[in-house]
Amino acid sequence: MDSFEWLNGYKVGFGLHHVDFNNPNRPRTPKYSAHYYYQVMKDNGFPLTEDEKMIYGHFRKEFIWSTATASYQIEGGWRADGKGLSIWDKFAHTPLKVFNDDNGDIACDSYNKIDEDVAILKQLKVTHYRFFISWSRVLPDGTTSHINEAGLSYYDRLVKALLAANIQPHITLYHWDLPQALQDIGGWENDDIVGKFRDYADLIFSRLGHNVKHWITINEPYNIAMVGHGYGVAAPGINFRPGTLPYIVGHNLIKAHAEVWHLYNDKYRAVQKGIISITINSDWSEPRNPYKQEDIDAARRVVQFYIGWFAHPIYNGDYSDVMKTIIRERSLAAGLTKSRLPEFTPDEIKRIKGTYDYFGFNHYTTVLAFPVNFGDLSHYDADRQARTVVDRTWLDSGSGWLKITPFGFRRILNFIKEEYGNPPIIITENGVSERGPIDLNDNHRTYHYEKYINQVLKAYLQDNVDIRGYTAWSLMDNLEWATGFSERFGLFYVNHSDPNVPRVKKASVSTYSTIISCNGFPDPASGPHDCLKPEPEGKLI
Ligand code: NOJ
Repeated sequence: MDSFEWLNGYKVGFGLHHVDFNNPNRPRTPKYSAHYYYQVMKDNGFPLTEDEKMIYGHFRKEFIWSTATASYQIEGGWRADGKGLSIWDKFAHTPLKVFNDDNGDIACDSYNKIDEDVAILKQLKVTHYRFFISWSRVLPDGTTSHINEAGLSYYDRLVKALLAANIQPHITLYHWDLPQALQDIGGWENDDIVGKFRDYADLIFSRLGHNVKHWITINEPYNIAMVGHGYGVAAPGINFRPGTLPYIVGHNLIKAHAEVWHLYNDKYRAVQKGIISITINSDWSEPRNPYKQEDIDAARRVVQFYIGWFAHPIYNGDYSDVMKTIIRERSLAAGLTKSRLPEFTPDEIKRIKGTYDYFGFNHYTTVLAFPVNFGDLSHYDADRQARTVVDRTWLDSGSGWLKITPFGFRRILNFIKEEYGNPPIIITENGVSERGPIDLNDNHRTYHYEKYINQVLKAYLQDNVDIRGYTAWSLMDNLEWATGFSERFGLFYVNHSDPNVPRVKKASVSTYSTIISCNGFPDPASGPHDCLKPEPEGKLI
């Protein structure tokens, strides 16, 4: 138990049990470590846990095996073809200096490298490629008053090159690079954007839709609402904006998504025969101390305020009771006349509910939650009444927020199944970063993909979660938003010191392509499997 630690007195506690020295009875409370040590003794060691065990088996036939990039993160050439300014051009050109010169950056130069990009996709053996259209490349001022045909033709050529290689495009309409002209009139805070987004989507469906079967309206609305990507001043650490703003932005994003889903459903689906949804991102949250009810409750709130913020209105109808009740109570307690969380009208609730064909899901990591009480402060942490930390034993990545936590993946997939009516799920992003010196032998990424995808297989085979596809983020190292090129998520390394920015494969390429060839993890006990044999180098491209 915590006790008198010599020169440090009672300030340092070595105990498996906490002792309350302010209470004359000196009550002892087991810490998490006490429970853990108990288990070690009980097991007489460290048997593999269910979470750690690998399983063998296959995904369904026709499984979508994909990888992704995003327009702003790879394309470059922002002035080359008459593209309009986006909020990211404005932000990234000044403080980040990630660009080559003032006339426009080349990023990964994908704008000029369709053939190279398709070649590395073939090397990976993916069945699908998830990419994004830059709104401001196609509509320089955000409206259909001027269509940039040169920009549109880039996406048309890309789609055709993919189809020729037998790779299906999976296209997202909005991935954060809002046209600056729309930001100038309030961006996502102004509900005029709903109609503008619809017009933009209409143009894209009419021009590209005959060749595209998979669509996503908006990528990661949570980050648009929370991290500043919706405000034209994206910057690291601008989390937790005060007051109502994130909720207003979130509200407009949900409405914009729903309108575009209806547009596709009413006008295009019958002819184009595709499917369309939104991609929602979320961490999984565990209680910091699984033996404490208040931590268990905090973990639930974290998930409801994260995935639930957007999934509840779309899959179940309206914001969750948890969000509505807590935010209303806290708003009224702070003297406001109504909740900071906007309300949907009954008609809006009906129009939004069910606007999905699948659950598009981005997932990277797990956090540990515990309750906090911020009084009547009006920011997001205060509303959800929780903070999160990580377990310091979890493996690190190149991104501070991303710890390698495969177990959480299976749990949140089960949560989606239970909470949102067992929708078909397409995992639209998952992956890991590195930073520092270039090392093409990216063991940690191999480890990450094997463990995370194996958890997906468990969710599919053992828990009957309806999983239709998996997408690795990312095809190649690219501009990781506010952190520039220093955090690298790619299966392929992009050498920026060479003007041709060549793509060079990392070791994890063969891991991922083998999992794809095997459509899962064949049991080594059942003999040699052809899919495990490496292909001779020459045949790859
Ligand atoms: C989410 C985003 O969609 C993508 O743009 C970003 O690079 C990755 N996650 C990694 O942070």
